[in-house]
Amino acid sequence: MIIETRNVSRVYPGVTALDQVNYCVYRNKVNVLIGENGAGKSTMMKLLAGVETPSSGQILLDGVPVNLGSTQQAEKHGISIIFQELNLFPNMNVMDNIFIGNEFFQRGRINEKYQYQLAKALLERLELDVDPYASLGELGIGHQQLVEIARALSKDTRVLIMDEPTSALSQSEVKVLFNVIAALKRRGVTIIYISHRLEELMEIGDHITIFRDGRFISEREVRDASVPWIIEQMVGDKKKHFDYHPAPQGETVLSVEGLTALHQNGGYKLNDVSFNLRKGEVVGIYGLLGAGRTELFKGMIGLMSCQSGTVTLKGQSLAKANFQQRLKKGLALVPEDRQGEGVVQLMSIKTNMTLSDLSLRAFHRALALLRPQKEDSRVNDMIQRLAIKVSDPELPITSLSGGNQQKVVLGKALMTGPEVVLLDEPTRGIDVGAKTDVYHLIGSMAHQGLAVMFSSSELEEVMALADRILVMADGRITADLPRAEATREILIAASTPHD
Ligand SMILES: Nc1ncnc2c1ncn2[C@@H]1O[C@H](COP(=O)(O)OP(=O)(O)OP(=O)(O)O)[C@@H](O)[C@H]1O
Ligand SMILES: [Mg+2]
Repeated sequence: MIIETRNVSRVYPGVTALDQVNYCVYRNKVNVLIGENGAGKSTMMKLLAGVETPSSGQILLDGVPVNLGSTQQAEKHGISIIFQELNLFPNMNVMDNIFIGNEFFQRGRINEKYQYQLAKALLERLELDVDPYASLGELGIGHQQLVEIARALSKDTRVLIMDEPTSALSQSEVKVLFNVIAALKRRGVTIIYISHRLEELMEIGDHITIFRDGRFISEREVRDASVPWIIEQMVGDKKKHFDYHPAPQGETVLSVEGLTALHQNGGYKLNDVSFNLRKGEVVGIYGLLGAGRTELFKGMIGLMSCQSGTVTLKGQSLAKANFQQRLKKGLALVPEDRQGEGVVQLMSIKTNMTLSDLSLRAFHRALALLRPQKEDSRVNDMIQRLAIKVSDPELPITSLSGGNQQKVVLGKALMTGPEVVLLDEPTRGIDVGAKTDVYHLIGSMAHQGLAVMFSSSELEEVMALADRILVMADGRITADLPRAEATREILIAASTPHD
């Protein structure tokens, strides 16, 4: 064992995030850690990385009790972490993001030449074709995640913690990351790997540990673990099941005609996209990273301007409507980038949830009309409906686990009482059990007569949930199939870009 915790607890006001946990990390192995949203995984990692300190208990490194009181101290011991929520500076370039806090100096100045070469080599290792001088904020979220990984690789690390490193990566990027992990292992590095994607854990992991409700539940060699066993350990007796029950479909509520948006450099973000959405219909969009799904949602809701094409809602053209007006008319969007676009980090859980609702209605009147009781009861309703794990809605949103923050963002979109809901990767970072909650939620929205459109890079998810499936590649719709006709083969073929 390289790291061992003895009876480690971490208590926050109202929550015991970790309860007397004995956790072992094995040397030179890929140690995977899994558990439901809010099980305490990220909290444990923050203790190991020196971001937080245990309320009680001991952490042993190489069998010796250590004090990991700060990230600097943890790094001195060779422990570094890739956080679940990206910790980068969008207004700085890629290279400065990689080395910030760990700059290379030469005669009292940052050795920019050396850093540039090192950055270039790191990016190449991750097969990321990005200039070290490119501004970070201009990269997509998947590429930003790779930069965060490059940053961790730039340090001299014995134990590398990866907290959901792949939640925004495409399949090919995940492959590259797995190669990097294998190479690190050959160099003797120990990896701790957290993910909600079970197939990934089975593929990359040597040793698996399961947490539930802040407690250690069990551990095993991955080769002796099966998926049903893992799920049982994770959820205990709270098993959930999703059955597909299509809702009756009504008239067309939204239609998109020839929507086209150009890149600055000439290519297409959206290329002549057309389709209709009916009341009660659940439409899934499948596509690889960069296929244009996010752009389509942004174009529809008015967050990205399109050069041509029309969006019509209930027979009314939205050509002149800006984003706020489109919200008011009944469109809602759950964005892909939770940190950047979904939550306001400085605000409470409650304020985040009611944010778009307030700006639509009550804000225009006197604030006195806000009726706090009504607000509270609606927030509590939504917390129950989405089974969000929260001790007090007045706490800052950042006190929630990643998956629970995602549920707040979903709740926020539903608070506006929309007729058409656009969900961009709604289950990103959500545990297998909670995914079922989100599926049920989508189903119940359809049964209430809403039109729902969601994107996913998980084929199984799209096939399990959607009445109709659109496939996108290179900004175009390459297939539009009813559920019964959509097979894995057809969907994969349609999602492959043709150069
Ligand atoms: N700063 C904080 N203040 C209050 N509660 C907190 C704080 N940080 C974490 N918690 C609570 O501790 C519990 C464990 O959270 P943690 O982030 O470790 O979960 P997780 O297993 O990483 O979940 P996920 O899969 O959703 O990322 C949650 O109930 C969370 O709300
Ligand atoms: Mg977490």
